Amino acid sequence: MASNFEPKILAFSCNWCSYAGADMAGVSRIQYPPNIRIIRLMCSGRVDPVFIFQSFLCAFDGVLVLGCHPGDCHYLVGNYHTEKKMNRVRKLLEIVGIEPERLLLDWVSAAEGARFAQIVSSFTEKVKDLGPFRKDGLEQGLEAAKATVQSERIRWLLGKELDLLQEGNVFGEKLSSSEIDLLIDTALKDEYLKNLVSLILEEKPLSCKEIASLVGLSPMAISSYLIDLEESGEVSLHGFEGKTPKYIAG
Ligand code: FES
Repeated sequence: MASNFEPKILAFSCNWCSYAGADMAGVSRIQYPPNIRIIRLMCSGRVDPVFIFQSFLCAFDGVLVLGCHPGDCHYLVGNYHTEKKMNRVRKLLEIVGIEPERLLLDWVSAAEGARFAQIVSSFTEKVKDLGPFRKDGLEQGLEAAKATVQSERIRWLLGKELDLLQEGNVFGEKLSSSEIDLLIDTALKDEYLKNLVSLILEEKPLSCKEIASLVGLSPMAISSYLIDLEESGEVSLHGFEGKTPKYIAG
């Protein structure tokens, strides 16, 4: 890897602790790599998963999310929600084919200027080791991931994960963390593949078998996604090639 590679890193920082920590690093004249651009938000809980996928579409090499230490969030549980959401985002990054290590979530208090500088330095080194992020060939996957985390089903699950774990569902039934993992990870993968199929069909009409070979799944699996997409009006029958039906988006 070229040693002169300087990664572009986007940092989302909460106003009350981590941004103040960055300020403290500046005021204390603590040196850290100039590779980051910081976006200040009121709470790390405001970091929508969409922002992460959009950052990679904007060709950032790494994304840093910084919040208050657990227990110190000024909105009580914002950072607990952030932790849950970023864990899911990492899984989705992996499905898209992006190293999940390009996303880091960490905590910095207002007094921890040195800690802020140390996190930025070590993350910059980590991203340097990973090399430049090349989005060529991953755009469709990133767009499908964005659509996935914007879907009502996934937004609801991600927003409720902590409540499901602590309080149970509306019937008062509690699920174990491994049951919740399975539930959310399955839903994420399902929505992602459905969105990917829909995006692929925006380019040209394809048969179930052709889509299956592009996505790397069985025609049986793809046909169930096509049924769902037809029902929701996102995909329709375009015509027949011989006896083979071809589908198109819209
Ligand atoms: Fe800092 Fe919520 S206010 S993480």
